[in-house]
Amino acid sequence: MTRHFLRDDDITPAEQAEILDLAAELKKDRWADKSLAGPQTVAVIFDKSSTRTRVSFAVGIADLGGSPLIISTANSQLGGKETPADTARVLERQVAAIVWRTYAQAGLEEMARDTVVPVVNALSDDFHPCQLLADLLTIREHKGDLAGLTLSFFGDGRSNMAHSYVLAGVTAGMHVRVASPEDYAPREDVIADADRIAAETGGSVTLLTDPLEAAAGADVVVTDTWVSMGKEEEKLARLRDLGAYKVTQETMSVADSEAIFIHCLPADRGYEVDAEVIDGPQSVIWDEAENRLHAQKALLVWLLRQP
Ligand code: CP
Ligand code: NVA
Repeated sequence: MTRHFLRDDDITPAEQAEILDLAAELKKDRWADKSLAGPQTVAVIFDKSSTRTRVSFAVGIADLGGSPLIISTANSQLGGKETPADTARVLERQVAAIVWRTYAQAGLEEMARDTVVPVVNALSDDFHPCQLLADLLTIREHKGDLAGLTLSFFGDGRSNMAHSYVLAGVTAGMHVRVASPEDYAPREDVIADADRIAAETGGSVTLLTDPLEAAAGADVVVTDTWVSMGKEEEKLARLRDLGAYKVTQETMSVADSEAIFIHCLPADRGYEVDAEVIDGPQSVIWDEAENRLHAQKALLVWLLRQP
């Protein structure tokens, strides 16, 4: 059975730990693993803009001895004339894996259902699981064991990042708090899935509307843009609704004194986070951005190793 990575809970807690361990190993020697030698090609498809994801997949695939094929949907048949299923049937005869940044999660599911090569979600409207592997690697590097740590997310709790923190966080046994207005709370089905995983791992998810209550004692403070790609028309309403959830020095002063700040980037300084925080001493955003490379290489190696 081909394994895909469309959501953070497509891997078990043990598998997540295995991928993070492999990422830490690959980080020690970037060119030691040549799993894609041949070179094998990996298709990396973008329906939305990207800097980090595009660069880290392209560089990572090359590090592994493979050849990245970066495709913009604007210049391809996918998204216009051709379905994800037909695209998958064409690509699977030529590439080792398909990585896709898109809008609807359903498109990724269709792509995965109709192909024998691994499909990786490089961000959808609902989840950003590759980012979470990098974030967990970063948190582990700075805070040690993930299980038992408290991670507090502030802002748009219905965003791809919030959903991924909820699922990947509990998979790692973390206590995840989401601080948002009620109308921006995470989707109920995602919370139900997270609760099931948390019962197994000892993690938890708590939804809060009071940002300072969410920040109290947190080990990891995190936020994301208030205006995700595809939500541009809601910009004014979002700036108004999410203003109280900005991460400030006050947020950090309530968190644990050794707390770290992370952000997937790109960031809107002065909106979801103040410059003093994101550019301050507790911020580890550049480690986080680098770790996209190591985490995604580990993911590809792991997926291609599956029987
Ligand atoms: N964090 C992230 O996915 O960044 P890009 O949109 O630049 O890929
Ligand atoms: N939530 C953001 C993440 C960008 C990496 C977006 O979807 O635009």
